[in-house]
Amino acid sequence: MSQTFDRRTFLRNAALGVSASTLPLTLVELAFAKPEDTFTFAYISDSHIQQIRGTEFVRNWDRGLIRAVAETNLLTPKPDFVVFGGDLAQLGGKPELDHGAGMLARLSGKVYHVMGEHDYYLDLGEYWSKLFGPQYYSFNHKGVHFVVLNSILTYDDWTLRRWPTAEQRMAEMAGLDNPNGSPFMVGDKQREWLQQDLAKVKKSTPVVVFSHSPLQKIYKGWNFWTEDAEQVQALLAPFDKVTVFYGHVHQIQYNQIGNISFTSAMATAWPWPYPQSYAQAEQLLPKLTVQMNRADPFFERDATGWQLIDINSGRARVNFNLYNNRTRTVAFDEKTGQPQDTAFQAADQRVPPQDHF
Ligand SMILES: [Fe+2]
Ligand SMILES: [Fe+2]
Repeated sequence: MSQTFDRRTFLRNAALGVSASTLPLTLVELAFAKPEDTFTFAYISDSHIQQIRGTEFVRNWDRGLIRAVAETNLLTPKPDFVVFGGDLAQLGGKPELDHGAGMLARLSGKVYHVMGEHDYYLDLGEYWSKLFGPQYYSFNHKGVHFVVLNSILTYDDWTLRRWPTAEQRMAEMAGLDNPNGSPFMVGDKQREWLQQDLAKVKKSTPVVVFSHSPLQKIYKGWNFWTEDAEQVQALLAPFDKVTVFYGHVHQIQYNQIGNISFTSAMATAWPWPYPQSYAQAEQLLPKLTVQMNRADPFFERDATGWQLIDINSGRARVNFNLYNNRTRTVAFDEKTGQPQDTAFQAADQRVPPQDHF
C-alpha cells in the first residue's frame, strides 16, 4: 500500500512516535513489559564517504549521511544511542574517515561503531581505531546485552602477503563480485573473546549482536557471507532470544536460524541488487529459511531508506521506510518462530527477479 507523507505529517507522526518518512537511518525500539524499561536506538549504516580529490567528495553519499544525522537528532523520543554499522569510508583513507567522522560528530549522544571492510583494508583498521576505539566490544543497556563484532577479517595470507601495496589490497576487497576478494570472518581470537564475554550473561537476557557482514552464509560470490558464521551462531545458540543486525548488503534481508533472528540495515549510499543465485536452481540457493518479499530491482533507490525497529520482549518488529514511501513491516511471528513480512506484494505485480526467495 503506497503512502505519501509530507514534512508536517512526518514531524507530527515523529512526535507521536509513529515516524513515517524516507530517511536513511534505523530507529530501534526495545519495548519491555515495564514502560520505564523501553528505549530506542538509531542505526545508520554504509555511507561509503568517497574522496574524489582534496576536499571534494562524492556529494550523493555525503548527502545520505548528512540527512541521516540531521534526522536522528530530530527524533522524538530521543534515541539512547546511535549505532553506525560500518563502511563509513569507501577506500579507507584518512580524508574519507575524517570527513565521515566529522559528519557523525554532529550526532548528539553516544555513537557505537562497527568496522566495515571499506574502513579496514587500507591500513588494517589502524586509523579507524584511533578515531573510534576498539574493533570489538560489548556493553549492557537497560537489560539487553549488546555485542559489536568485527566480522570482516580474513586470512593473514591474503591480508599480509598477497598484495604489493595497501592500496591494491583495499581495491581488491572493495569490489562486490571480485573473485580476488577473500571471505570475511570473525576469527579465532575474537570468537574466544565472545565465548568469555557471553559466559557472564544469563541465558534469559536478550542478546543483540551488531556485525558488518551477515553472520550467516547468504552468497559467497559477493561476500554476503561470514566464513565462520556457524561457529559464531553456536556461541549464541544457548540464549533464549538473539537478534543479529548487520549492514554491508545494502538491501532488506531477514532470516531465522535456530534461536537467532537476522535483520539487515539499509545503506545511506546506494542499494545493491539481489545476488544472481537467488534466481538460480533451488539447490544453488543460499540457506535462507524464510521466504522474503523482494524489493523492486528496477528501482535504483529501492531497499535504501530507514527502519524503525521495535524489539518487544527481545523480538524485533522492523518497519522499513523506503525511498519511494512504501512501508513494509517484517515482524517476528511467535507462531512460526521467525521474522516474516506482514504483507506480500500481489503475485501479478511482481517483476520476474522478485518472484522467488
Ligand atoms: Fe557497504
Ligand atoms: Fe561492506
